[in-house]
Amino acid sequence: MVWNGGIQARRTAACAAPRIYAVFVRATKGPPLIEFRDGVFFLSTANTSYWFGVTAHGHLEHLHYGRRLPVQDPQALRPERTAQRASAIVYDPADPRCTLDALALEYSTIGQGDYRRIPCRILTHHGYDLDPVHRTHRITADAAPALTLPTADGPAESLHVTLGDDRAGIELTLVYTVFEDVDVIARRVIVRNTGDAPATIEQLASVQLDLPDRGLRVLTLDGDWIAETHTHTRAVTPGAFVTGSTTGSSSNRHNPGFLILEDRADEDRGRVWGVNLVYSGSHEASVSLDAHGSVRVHSGIQPQAFAWPIAPGEEFESPQAVLTFSDEGCNGASDRFHRFVNRHIVPERFREVPRPVVFNSWEAVSFDVDERRLGRLAKQASALGMELFVIDDGWFAGRRDDTGGLGDYGVDTSRFPSGLAAFGDRLKRLNLRMGLWFEPEMVNERSALYARHPDWAMRVPGKAPREGRHQLVLDLCNPDVCDYIVEQVGAVLDSADITYVKWDMNRHIADASSPHVAHPGMVAHRYIQNLYAVLARIFAPRPHVLLEMCSSGGNRFDLGMLRHSAMIWASDDTDPIERLEIQQGLSHLYPPSTISAHVSAAPHAQTLRDTPLSTRFNVAAFGALGYEYDLDLLTSEERKEVRDQIAFYLAHRELLQFGRFRRGDMPRDRYRWQAGEGDEAIVGLFQRRVDAAPTPDILPIAGLDPDAAYVVRAKPQRLMIERFGNLINHVTPMRLDPRGLVLQTVGRFHSLRDAAEEHRGTGSLLAEGIRLNDQFQGTEYNESIRMLGDHGSTLYLVEKETPR
Ligand code: DGJ
Repeated sequence: MVWNGGIQARRTAACAAPRIYAVFVRATKGPPLIEFRDGVFFLSTANTSYWFGVTAHGHLEHLHYGRRLPVQDPQALRPERTAQRASAIVYDPADPRCTLDALALEYSTIGQGDYRRIPCRILTHHGYDLDPVHRTHRITADAAPALTLPTADGPAESLHVTLGDDRAGIELTLVYTVFEDVDVIARRVIVRNTGDAPATIEQLASVQLDLPDRGLRVLTLDGDWIAETHTHTRAVTPGAFVTGSTTGSSSNRHNPGFLILEDRADEDRGRVWGVNLVYSGSHEASVSLDAHGSVRVHSGIQPQAFAWPIAPGEEFESPQAVLTFSDEGCNGASDRFHRFVNRHIVPERFREVPRPVVFNSWEAVSFDVDERRLGRLAKQASALGMELFVIDDGWFAGRRDDTGGLGDYGVDTSRFPSGLAAFGDRLKRLNLRMGLWFEPEMVNERSALYARHPDWAMRVPGKAPREGRHQLVLDLCNPDVCDYIVEQVGAVLDSADITYVKWDMNRHIADASSPHVAHPGMVAHRYIQNLYAVLARIFAPRPHVLLEMCSSGGNRFDLGMLRHSAMIWASDDTDPIERLEIQQGLSHLYPPSTISAHVSAAPHAQTLRDTPLSTRFNVAAFGALGYEYDLDLLTSEERKEVRDQIAFYLAHRELLQFGRFRRGDMPRDRYRWQAGEGDEAIVGLFQRRVDAAPTPDILPIAGLDPDAAYVVRAKPQRLMIERFGNLINHVTPMRLDPRGLVLQTVGRFHSLRDAAEEHRGTGSLLAEGIRLNDQFQGTEYNESIRMLGDHGSTLYLVEKETPR
């Protein structure tokens, strides 16, 4: 069979695709994941196909990324140019219809007539002009790990296509890695200087994806401190939508991951493409649309202040971008990314490892830590069923508040007279493991480290460095700084039985300058490269330490960090109503197992919102659960409630952390989250605002066996009496002041029960949606009424009934 390999309608010898046959080395069983036939590369995952061909001129023409198709002649997917395009630059004088501007391209360059956005800008002795064309390719039976950056691992096959431009002395190798099991294709680029003059990379996207316009929309996760990862969706319109970060981290402003939705796609239906980056530094992504319906997607390193010189013989590798596709809506794309993160991103030693229920000291006591106070909290945490006790900020010498101490990680013996090891032993006796907080990338001017090495803080020569949260950024481009961090943190970890680290980073990078790099444009990226190396040096030899990443909450929630850690603190905001948005946003790209989520006090410290304890748990339960709470303040009823919450969580932890997660499209300010499918699921229904004269709520449950019988029960939860205010007088025989001593005392020891609901049906019936019990509307109170009010919620446990 001879297929049309070229871009031209006129078939000349020059238009025929080159015939190059690859040798296959298989990493996985079954049909090949990567095939090369008659000039076309066919990449296949379980449910998707990614195709591109080599044109007669050696450019890579993108043909298809979408549903899995049988390998075949892709002729019908290749736009045939049967008319010359006006105002086009003709690439080949022998063919006036040949213009790169009209092709979907795998990677384009400057100067050849493609006037859409370009993924790379490389300055060579010839200026910016670059025309790399196909030279060779090879297929390897591995995930093609990068040398200087984290990349996804596990069973995979990789395609390395090398394009070269001899005149400019530049080679680009496009690396495609196929993760068949999770429907993800990763891409990255390696730039090599093959000439004899120096060159400088000024811009380098890891991926270019050209898609036909189907009335697309882009969904991004944006925010700021305490309001991270809110979703925003906008139409792709002519011109470019550009997003990214310049803070030196992946940032709480704009997450590197995003989704592209076809016009009518929703949570469960329609084509959706996902893009994310295995990178923790400043990044940039764009989605642009030209006048001819060509949508172009880029994602990679932030070009602002980036420049990377490459001498002859040197190479530079971009971060890895990851792509997925689903025709089952946003939930389909999210599920693929979730499985990808759990199987190919999170370090192997943490995969499928249940995340412990932690107590974290921060919101309970802030900097006011000492072994007596923490010991008391630990006793209560243990009695409530928690598994791990994290001593947050404030445990080391000089750290009384945020103005001093960072840089010196010697335990403060006035606060821990018996030392950390002895405190760890005490925790062990309480059946609790010990975790410790560090912020190793930073230094306070008021610290012994700064007194010894003021030059270790990043600064622009001749200019005083600017502080953020009273701290400066250590220059991780300096190998001595990296060694210091590795030794300091390592020594503390080895000094006591510490099995958990919370690694924090509480400011953006400014004054980005270092005498330890050859070009100022290298600072931000070298910092991140060295940070990854530091993390590997500390934690690879200590595999027993579970790592939680944090950066003022979710300022560095990205796949690069997850390549080193098990989870990330999603936000300093633990108000469950805000968390609904934050966690729902994150869930588009990251699985619940990676989302660190804690229950804290109400009214909330940042929003002043008063929410029920049940809702605080019900939201946090869809993540790696913890409590940041002054447990001394819990009433006896609240204590019972927390104990029951933890018992419920532990009984269903696998489902909540690793079960298939789905968001529900819900009306009227409601959120619906489902964890699990098949035999068992937990569905959370959350209501931000109560409706007067409420419409009955409908709760669909997805992914069940259509013919099997199920029972659905509301998780029992307590209604605290104080929530009733004056209404309590309707159910008590005598009149009581709702703010008076009697009711306050009663409320500490008694509560009411929220709606005891139970429903039965087959999986197909439940998929239609359970009609839930009525909500309270002031007409009567009984135990079958759902008492949600503002910020109310319920968890429903769905279990298959075993036939008697
Ligand atoms: C910011 C983090 O996000 C908090 O959880 C806490 O660890 C503080 N830093 C401590 O300074």
